[in-house]
Amino acid sequence: RRNSRRGRLSVMVPPGMRRELPIGVFDSGIGGLTVVHALRQALPSENILYLGDTARVPYGSKSPDTVVRYARACAEFLVQRGIKVLVVACNTASAHALTALRQQVDVILVDAVWPGAAAAQQVSENGHIGVLGTLGTVRSDAYPRALAAQRPGVVVSQMACPLLVPLAEEGWTEGPVPEQVATRYLAELAEKDSNIDTLVLGCTHYPLLRPVLDKVAEATWGHRVTLVDSAGAMADTTRALMTADGVLGTRAGRGELVLCVTDASRLDELAPRFLAEPFAGFSLVDL
Ligand code: DGL
Repeated sequence: RRNSRRGRLSVMVPPGMRRELPIGVFDSGIGGLTVVHALRQALPSENILYLGDTARVPYGSKSPDTVVRYARACAEFLVQRGIKVLVVACNTASAHALTALRQQVDVILVDAVWPGAAAAQQVSENGHIGVLGTLGTVRSDAYPRALAAQRPGVVVSQMACPLLVPLAEEGWTEGPVPEQVATRYLAELAEKDSNIDTLVLGCTHYPLLRPVLDKVAEATWGHRVTLVDSAGAMADTTRALMTADGVLGTRAGRGELVLCVTDASRLDELAPRFLAEPFAGFSLVDL
């Protein structure tokens, strides 16, 4: 490890070898595997090193200072292992810690908020956008700021949906229970703005509830509402930045996926819900 010119963390690798390093991804837990899934589709031959801070999940209800501290520890772990890109899969960590991470690490940084906002403002026809996220993400106003910067005049309303995270983790992703929960959250959001035509799923877990949210959103607003999840947009951004920086890997074949977690409880049960591909197991690590 060396300190780069601006004192930021980076790993010393021989010139030409950087492109063979893995993409580093971290999340508060296993929800970020939805982002890994998108990355595996966009960049199938890249190696991925994933860190899920399962010992300290959830981040969504913690204070900004705590989330910054945790995010910095996750970033340091991955950068010291050697990565060429750092993908902050966690929306809450992206919302609170991006500035701190930019100062800390000297690798390409991809967050959840900016690409998710970009995808949403591009598809919205009337500029009325709803954002669903954790309490921390909503309170940070990171999405409204990003959306306003990208499309001035956009009307943004937000709703914290804390109950959606445990529903996704428990696999309760269809039927009356998630429908009732979603109906209540979206009804409150519709009271703020009855013209929303686009909803940002601003949390790692919400893509699992997409069919329910899709159905309930149409019933709530009385017209089709486009759902945008940041995972796909993050994968596209990652590929674009790696291409621009000349660090696409050169090897052929399917890339390796290495999963690290800070607590291993229930992982064999929960991870397949988010990843949708077999995995070789986890390493338990300490930050
Ligand atoms: N990964 C978090 C996010 O995307 C959701 C889970 C948590 O609260 O830690 O905001």
